[in-house]
Amino acid sequence: MKTEAMVATRVCPSILSADFAHLARDVAAVERAGADMIHVDVMDGQFVPNITIGPVVVKAMRAVTTLPLDVHLMIVDPERYAGDFARAGADLISFHVEAPAATDPARVIRHIRALGKRPALALNPDTPVERVEPFVPLVEMVLVMSVFPGFAAQRFIPAVLEQARRLRSAFPDLEIEIDGGVSERTAAAAREAGANVLVAGSAIFGAPDPAAALRAIRAAALSGAGGGV
Ligand code: DX5
Ligand code: ZN
Repeated sequence: MKTEAMVATRVCPSILSADFAHLARDVAAVERAGADMIHVDVMDGQFVPNITIGPVVVKAMRAVTTLPLDVHLMIVDPERYAGDFARAGADLISFHVEAPAATDPARVIRHIRALGKRPALALNPDTPVERVEPFVPLVEMVLVMSVFPGFAAQRFIPAVLEQARRLRSAFPDLEIEIDGGVSERTAAAAREAGANVLVAGSAIFGAPDPAAALRAIRAAALSGAGGGV
């Protein structure tokens, strides 16, 4: 069955795998290559076992790109920090339905909207889609994790394609982002399952030519000619 979504295919490089000493250069390279957004992975060392970057880096990137900044909060208390990221220049702010302090996701979503930003809800590979479904009408996007969050360059978990498929059949117009292990090899399967926003970190910035890698991922997603996952 073809689950052709009514939504456009977008490719969204994750700067977690970029060269942090040359962020502006790396962002400019993928912007020229047609990136649709820049994905920013924020980790607090508590919700996930890794610490990455905070609002100061978002602010620095805001100054060097006009692309939307898609800020993925992998943190215990998204409500507490959403304002800092909003003021730093985030456009989309995603938080996890599993975040321990986000016991009332609708409230966090309202808070992000009140900041003038686009809220999105993320779910881990082992979280049932039922957990996010009630909030879908309130958000701009659902982020389906295709690895357990915390680190770049992990292997794509094919079982999450079922989450994307289910969301796509229930919500034909929803922006569905897939994040983790996306590459030229896995992009077509993700797109075919209904994910239309493809995040890729190591497959883009770990490649010798990030611009070519981005174009290859987009081409693979659009061709539908999937390698296996
Ligand atoms: C994982 C992050 C991802 C990650 C993607 O915790 O949310 O965005 O950086 O990296 P790759 O594409 O290398 O799996
Ligand atoms: Zn991410």
